[in-house]
Amino acid sequence: MNPLVFRSDYAHSREGLSELTRLIYDVFEVDVSPLDRLGHDPSVVAFGWWLGGQLVANVSLYERRLWLLGEQVQAFGVQSVAVRPEWRGKGLFRDLMRRALSYADARADLVILGTGTPDLYTPFGFRQILETTFSASLAPKPAKPAYRLLTLAEDRDVALLKDLFARRSPTSQVASACDHPALFMLMAVTAPEMELIHLSDLDAVVAVEGRQETSMTLLDIVAPSIPSLDAIVSALGYAGERIEVHLTPDRLSWTPERETRIDNGHMVRGVFSPEAHPFMLSGMQI
Ligand SMILES: CC(C)(COP(=O)(O)OP(=O)(O)OC[C@H]1O[C@@H](n2cnc3c(N)ncnc32)[C@H](O)[C@@H]1OP(=O)(O)O)[C@@H](O)C(=O)NCCC(=O)NCCS
Repeated sequence: MNPLVFRSDYAHSREGLSELTRLIYDVFEVDVSPLDRLGHDPSVVAFGWWLGGQLVANVSLYERRLWLLGEQVQAFGVQSVAVRPEWRGKGLFRDLMRRALSYADARADLVILGTGTPDLYTPFGFRQILETTFSASLAPKPAKPAYRLLTLAEDRDVALLKDLFARRSPTSQVASACDHPALFMLMAVTAPEMELIHLSDLDAVVAVEGRQETSMTLLDIVAPSIPSLDAIVSALGYAGERIEVHLTPDRLSWTPERETRIDNGHMVRGVFSPEAHPFMLSGMQI
């Protein structure tokens, strides 16, 4: 007799969240418990096999709100794909993936995920998409620094960020996302090299890396009105030589000098209209 029970009712119960947190920690050594304070994404639907009170295999979906070639597209993302070691090789992942995709297919035309193991997903109809990073040298300009580093340990900074998320506009019309802030915040608390900075004059929060170095990387912008790249660099008081932009830059009033194709780990299943264009979706997702 199969001792396992299939469930899909636990993504938002206390017991379910605690078992998902434990599974993700045991398999990936990533602690998602900060989301208990920062806020879980209410759109998550989890599909899992349980042995009594223990979650042994899981695949979750969450809603992705994408902007692709000027159109708002409702898609699903796949996350928390994990099977406990002693239960691997028995087809549990394949079974859960089929269930999740049948749920997604009934509701959307596009499913997107990020992975370091694409072979796992090609049998389900996913294909890799190449992205592009954009960069240019910076001419020295007078800076008007007006910024404050945020720390998500502070409730007021969490509130400030949530408020901006609720009002944010897409960073790009070509390819960008306006998802729930949960995965952005989780990335912020788990990646110490990345800084979240409030630019009060621009009513914006930017995620950047390498501010003390000769080249700085812009990872994301959360703002109701997307500022120009010049305005961001000036507000940060950044005096380095080069800027890298890891976002599609069509709304930044900026012309990159160099475009570099990269494999950022994204895979899609279904129509993904910007595929033939240079684009980059924010990597501010764990
Ligand atoms: C990857 C993982 C979810 C697979 O779970 P599983 O229940 O053992 O997988 P299944 O038994 O359903 O196998 C399904 C198929 O995937 C294949 N597969 C399993 N692990 C794989 C891997 N790392 N790379 C490529 N294919 C893999 C199996 O060979 C099988 O192929 P088949 O259909 O041709 O027989 C599990 O090994 C795991 O939790 N790994 C650690 C976490 C992880 O890597 N998650 C994915 C991150 S994006």
